Amino acid sequence: MTVEPFRNQPVETFATEEARREMREALKRVRSEFGRHYPLYLGGEWVDTKDQIASRNPSAPSQVVGTVAKAGKAEAEAALEAAWKAFKTWKDWPQEDRSRLLLKAAALMKRRRRELEATLVYEIGKSWVEASAEVAEAIDFLEYYARQALKYKYPSVEVVPYPGEDNESFYIPLGAGVVIAPWNFPIAIFTGMMAGPVVVGNTVVAKPAEDTVVIAAKVFEILHEAGFPPGVVNLLPGEGKEVGAYLVEHPRTRFVNFTGSLEVGLWIQEAVSRLAPGQRWIKRVFLELGGKDAIIVDETADLEAATEGILVSAYGFQGQKCSAASRLILTEKAYEPVLERVLRRAERLVVGPAEENPDLGPVASKAQEEKVLSYIEVGKGEGRLVLGGRRLEGEGYFIAPTLFAEVPPEARIAQEEIFGPVLSVIRVKDFGEALEVANGTVYGLTGGVYSRKREHLERARREFHVGNLYLNRKITGALVGVQPFGGFNLSGTDTKAGGPDYLLHFLQMKSVAERF
Ligand code: NAI
Ligand code: MG
Repeated sequence: MTVEPFRNQPVETFATEEARREMREALKRVRSEFGRHYPLYLGGEWVDTKDQIASRNPSAPSQVVGTVAKAGKAEAEAALEAAWKAFKTWKDWPQEDRSRLLLKAAALMKRRRRELEATLVYEIGKSWVEASAEVAEAIDFLEYYARQALKYKYPSVEVVPYPGEDNESFYIPLGAGVVIAPWNFPIAIFTGMMAGPVVVGNTVVAKPAEDTVVIAAKVFEILHEAGFPPGVVNLLPGEGKEVGAYLVEHPRTRFVNFTGSLEVGLWIQEAVSRLAPGQRWIKRVFLELGGKDAIIVDETADLEAATEGILVSAYGFQGQKCSAASRLILTEKAYEPVLERVLRRAERLVVGPAEENPDLGPVASKAQEEKVLSYIEVGKGEGRLVLGGRRLEGEGYFIAPTLFAEVPPEARIAQEEIFGPVLSVIRVKDFGEALEVANGTVYGLTGGVYSRKREHLERARREFHVGNLYLNRKITGALVGVQPFGGFNLSGTDTKAGGPDYLLHFLQMKSVAERF
């Protein structure tokens, strides 16, 4: 197999009229499909059900972007059955052939790129550039894992020779697993969490988040067209507490690949450790959870660059990224000038319907809106509200970019994941205290430092305990292959999606010794 080396997909910035026109046309096309119905995908067939999930446009919730069939226990059983049946042969496919299917899917995704971006704009409220970055990431996962998988093809493990014997060790896949995805990166994370296990010979039953079922169905149109054999990938939209929990606890589930909240992640960890009747293995579980990510700025920093990075990291996609900056930690002398700059720039951010490509679109759902607003109320008692702090006019779930100053490090808004456009500013006396505060939560996903002091940068490199640390740049937008992604502590199992070791999680090693 000869393929060109992996390169990240470029992100469209929509700086040209040509790109903007394409996007407007794609938005129109997607709008004309509003209300379309998508079935489940089970054992290679599109299957409808009695119940449905409606996906709404958070910029205008009266609009139904589409409906998707809703799976229950019967469909979950059928999907696991199909996945195990497919596993019998898929596991023995030559690695090149499996990789080729991912490359085909990536090519199809590239062809439908604008349409997929427009779907994200309407289904979850991403701005155009955020949508473009996410579709690029989904393509990257397919392209990257397709190539990485070739590393593990038989025989790939070096063992020490032993006299009189032939010894070999090789990797084999685990079996049929369950993928459970969040709504905030509903194409990139959803695609990546399936592509990894599948490319090395596992089969999956995938449950997308309830709010983003239409983009999930479009991913499956692409996988279907790419030609995955029946049962290798199965789409099972449904409620987390029902079909999600059922799949997690099922004795035939071999592994669970989960990205989502801490609360659900901890429940899954507990659930997989209980042996279900008839279960014959220790389930493997991968958990990518929340964050309370901090940017530190010291008095030597380039304040303009810092301000820019802070705004993008805190308010991009309305702060609904696990990597988003939700704490800004400023040393004594940096405090006033940075706060003032951030405030001045944040005041000018435009909030509006995502299709108009504003700086901030709506938050994802009514539930998100309620959660963020309730944290803002908590914040009013904990810090000094200097910007925003309210819902905006309009049908959509619009929340003003919000800034709290003088927040104590122990405050709830400085400790708990809010997942919205809310930034808590914390004052510290020096860089040492800044690091202590930064490390002072249960999470450890991303973090950043803006400084011109080499000693501070090097100290952060060693002591800032996060899975993804960024020095003098924004803390969001990890690139596949470039910055393997995953967090420490309660941010998860540090699975490092888009990293060189990711596929190993879904393999086990077999050793065979033959004596002559
Ligand atoms: P969530 O935990 O509410 O839902 C995630 C998925 O789990 C959904 O598909 C949901 O239906 C399902 N689910 C819910 N209850 C379940 C149960 N009892 N059993 C099985 N499945 C169940 O999270 P949400 O709100 O969709 O996503 C936001 C969260 O995801 C944030 O906490 C964010 O930090 C985290 N996240 C972490 C990332 C990382 O790489 N560390 C990346 C992106 C998001
Ligand atoms: Mg929606």
